[in-house]
Amino acid sequence: MLLDVAGLTVTARVGDADVPIVRDAGFTVAPGRILGIVGESGAGKSTIARVVAGLLPPGFRIASGSVTFEGEDLPAASAARRRELLGRRIAFIPQAPLSSLNPVVSVGRQFAEHLAHARVPRAERRGVAARALAEVRLDDSEALLARYPFQLSGGMCQRVLIAMAFATNPALIVADEPTTALDVTVQAQILELLGDLNRDLGTAIVMITHNMGVVAGLCSRVLVMYAGEIVEQGPVEQIFENPQHPYTWSLLRSIPRVDALRHERLRSIEGLAPDLLHPPAGCRFHPRCPFRIEKCFTDEPRLQEVAPDQLAACWVTMARARKEMGADDLIDIRPGAGSGVRKGELTD
Ligand SMILES: Nc1ncnc2c1ncn2[C@@H]1O[C@H](COP(=O)(O)OP(=O)(O)OP(=O)(O)O)[C@@H](O)[C@H]1O
Ligand code: SF4
Ligand SMILES: [Mg+2]
Repeated sequence: MLLDVAGLTVTARVGDADVPIVRDAGFTVAPGRILGIVGESGAGKSTIARVVAGLLPPGFRIASGSVTFEGEDLPAASAARRRELLGRRIAFIPQAPLSSLNPVVSVGRQFAEHLAHARVPRAERRGVAARALAEVRLDDSEALLARYPFQLSGGMCQRVLIAMAFATNPALIVADEPTTALDVTVQAQILELLGDLNRDLGTAIVMITHNMGVVAGLCSRVLVMYAGEIVEQGPVEQIFENPQHPYTWSLLRSIPRVDALRHERLRSIEGLAPDLLHPPAGCRFHPRCPFRIEKCFTDEPRLQEVAPDQLAACWVTMARARKEMGADDLIDIRPGAGSGVRKGELTD
């Protein structure tokens, strides 16, 4: 396994308390595969991305669990070793392309510094940068390398960051909402590009997103996070076809029809994600869950296998809700069926 995360709990210092931001998370990423991590704002997606990239901000701490990359215990690695891994074996594509590049240092110099960090010999750097820029379909690399980030569009900056990430041929790329700041057309181009590079180079990707459409278009597996916990995980097609956690079901319902995009705003799930300082007892989703039963108010469900290769943390599960509560009458969320999203079609 390329990446193996088990029992991961991350806390953040709030006042004089350590608040769990991610609780007991476990998942794996096989070489060359794309894992989507999806969930609303505050679910803990970026925290997981930062743990893997070794970029946890001050005040955050891995309280328990293990993170193993290519057999190496990441949290136990020295700061020097982490820096060495980041850039050479693991690359990070951040959310905000414009603020991730220094606006007053030329693209060429920033690219060269990145390659120097990854120990690419000086004489090869220009050629490696030009090839990587061509891979992300940025032509005329000489002219581009001489420019400054403030002279480029957001989409071009994001392509430069993707080129930098792939240039050193890492085994894993962690992309934290790499397209959120871009307009819909550029978003679709960037996602297609990531899919192509994954196919051509065999680089595994952890794709953080709040958008189930991105998951449908790009990923082979998906983790659904709610309030710091993984509530469902499994193969994308299976989860789109047969979600078992009511939160996953709600997320899929909130995707508008592709042909309705122009007319309809994204429907959101009613209610708010809980305050992690004072999470609700029992299942954390119970204040918003249409299928809750009495037990959900008091007892915390654990992730368990609900179908081959599919885990969900729910006392009821959609299979039972369908059978006993007629949930299927409410909406059909299968891909291609009305509210679903077909593979390859991306929605905002
Ligand atoms: N510096 C901080 N101190 C304390 N709590 C924080 C800090 N930064 C983030 N958090 C909290 O950690 C939780 C998880 O944050 P995280 O950034 O991982 O969520 P996310 O799923 O990436 O959300 P988004 O979609 O908004 O990026 C949130 O509840 C957030 O309020
Ligand atoms: S455990 Fe209960 S409240 Fe939580 S998602 Fe399942 S049915 Fe809803
Ligand atoms: Mg985030």
